[in-house]
Amino acid sequence: MQEVLELILPDESWKKQAADYRQAYVDAGESHINGSSGMERYPVYEEWLGEIRAQQHQPATEERTPATTFFAVRKEDGRIIGTIQVRHRLTNDLCRSGGNIGYGVRPDERKRGYAVQMLELALQVCRKIGLERVLLDCQAGNIASERTILRCGGTFAGEAQVPGDDGCPERIRRFWIAL
Ligand SMILES: CC(C)(COP(=O)(O)OP(=O)(O)OC[C@H]1O[C@@H](n2cnc3c(N)ncnc32)[C@H](O)[C@@H]1OP(=O)(O)O)[C@@H](O)C(=O)NCCC(=O)NCCS
Repeated sequence: MQEVLELILPDESWKKQAADYRQAYVDAGESHINGSSGMERYPVYEEWLGEIRAQQHQPATEERTPATTFFAVRKEDGRIIGTIQVRHRLTNDLCRSGGNIGYGVRPDERKRGYAVQMLELALQVCRKIGLERVLLDCQAGNIASERTILRCGGTFAGEAQVPGDDGCPERIRRFWIAL
């Protein structure tokens, strides 16, 4: 499939498109923007930029890893289609839940093959930083995410119960993708 998206590092010049991206989730009644490192929690765009830049330059420790957050932008019209975050190393927490990559596609652009393309682009980033395989997970029942992972070469690595964002237990399914 021809690549219609590119991954770009968010900067000040994307402020207006980022507001539009965020609004698409609000309009759809979704409170969480996956793969954005919590963009929904930052009313001020520049503060979110500060946060994702700090994560990018975060030194690797036992508990923390550098992580790079991208906008997936449609080349044709510059629209932000999704957000995707590459976590450069697996900490114990990320092994339990989260894995190497998180992603989301704006609600009004779903089911058009964009998630598969975003994940493929992120896998290229992972290869460049020297990873040989990546761990991904999704909530059991998130068929769209599971199919995205499988389409990109994921092999099932088991199911587990973990504390969800709200602290309640949730079931997740884990997958490895060899690079
Ligand atoms: C999961 C998500 C990223 C998929 O994005 P998308 O652009 O719609 O996905 P694609 O169009 O690339 O489709 C990928 C696969 O999922 C399938 N799919 C997409 N939406 C689906 C749905 N609602 N139900 C069932 N299958 C679905 C597609 O058919 C395709 O599978 P196939 O190639 O085997 O037919 C998107 O639904 C989303 O952002 N959801 C909320 C955030 C989220 O769940 N992120 C992942 C966290 S682990």
